[in-house]
Amino acid sequence: MSARGGFNSRLGFIAAAAGSAVGLGNIWKFPFEVGQGGGAAFVLIYLLFAFLLCFPVMVAEIAIGRKTEKNPVGAFTALGFRKWRIVGMLGVLAGVVILSFYNVVAGWAFGYFIEMVQGNFAVGNDFGGFTSDYIKVGGYGLVFMLATTLIVSRGISGGIEKASKILMPVLIIMMLGLVFYSFTLDNAGAGIEFYLLPDFSKITLPVMYRALGQAFFSLSLGMGTFITFGSYVSKKDNIVSSAVLITLADVGIALLAGLMMFPFVFSQGLPPTGGPGLIFATLPGIFQALGPVLGIFIGSTFFLLLSFAALTSTVSLLEVPVSYVVDELKIKRKLAVWLVAGFIFIVGIPSLLSNGASEYFSNFITYVGADKATDFMTFVGHIANDSFLPLGGALIAIFVAYVWRKSNLNKEIEQGFEGFEGSFVQKYIGFALTYLAPIILIFIFVLTVLDRFFGIQLF
Ligand code: PHE
Repeated sequence: MSARGGFNSRLGFIAAAAGSAVGLGNIWKFPFEVGQGGGAAFVLIYLLFAFLLCFPVMVAEIAIGRKTEKNPVGAFTALGFRKWRIVGMLGVLAGVVILSFYNVVAGWAFGYFIEMVQGNFAVGNDFGGFTSDYIKVGGYGLVFMLATTLIVSRGISGGIEKASKILMPVLIIMMLGLVFYSFTLDNAGAGIEFYLLPDFSKITLPVMYRALGQAFFSLSLGMGTFITFGSYVSKKDNIVSSAVLITLADVGIALLAGLMMFPFVFSQGLPPTGGPGLIFATLPGIFQALGPVLGIFIGSTFFLLLSFAALTSTVSLLEVPVSYVVDELKIKRKLAVWLVAGFIFIVGIPSLLSNGASEYFSNFITYVGADKATDFMTFVGHIANDSFLPLGGALIAIFVAYVWRKSNLNKEIEQGFEGFEGSFVQKYIGFALTYLAPIILIFIFVLTVLDRFFGIQLF
């Protein structure tokens, strides 16, 4: 392996990549997006996007990364297409923006762990009060950013790999337990129906673009995370089967989170449209009902594991701008990590203040035609997750299909996957990158921007 370090094993890569993908996006964001997006119809659209569009983009990203052993910006230069560095830069920028608010929510999760340890189940009844205490919540965020910084500064296999391998399976087992418990609650059936029985009349343009943004965000795609991960992957690994496993793991955990949440939400008589506070308002009451001892145990373990899931994601989010700074600006890794993390923490302060602490940031912008203001954190999320990531995905697809060329992609994938050329998956990936992804992603991107930010509906 090169001097940049590498994963110790294929499993290490898959665990770390799945660790990046699985995070708050699955457990915090997915259920509330489903709740606001009308339930099962959203889930269906999300699944289609994840498998048909995101999976080929993931393969493309890993292949670019492994071929070049570079960060998302340097990779394009290394392939001989300097102008395309802009795609990598868009990705680095998206990474900075996403981490800036992601870290705030990770701070909430960690804060909830502390509250649960103390048996403070009442925190769920006043989530707004919790998030507006910016000194406390900011402190949790700071702890979180420090943990991320320490892991990233230790380098790839030492930090990320070890943590992911142990924590992910524990989280899955815990969630399975909670899913079974949720089924026993009153009114669980109504929740399951909302979640799994699609009402096709609910499929509107906003549902489509939110589902698309969610798929990209949840799979950590469109900003070069997988170019970065790919740069540490061995030539012996099978890129396609790795991408299949990562996609399945990520989607599977999101589905599990929904299966757990909706019976909980409906059994408590809460509205599924609760937004970013959904899991934070719902879960404490559920844990409380388990009784003081079991409630504290399950509640604190759950939020601790959620914090770890978030940590393996923040680590990968920080790794993208850091690998850029290290490779391109030739700054020492340790220093780069601290500088970039400090910068991102500061960029995140408006997001920290946008959930009740500051009137200005909490009602930051009112979209044309909207009846309510959107807070700053949600606003930057809309820009980064639902616009930048799909756009990045489209550009990566276009780059591979029309600039780098599919024959080069195929050659790269063939290493570690003999028989790829000529196979059905090769044909599908080629088709998706050449036609499906560019056309659908650009089309939805344009409609999204017009609809969401300018209130213009073409259809
Ligand atoms: N996929 C992560 C999650 O679901 C978030 C993330 C997005 C991580 C983009 C890296 C890059 O929580």
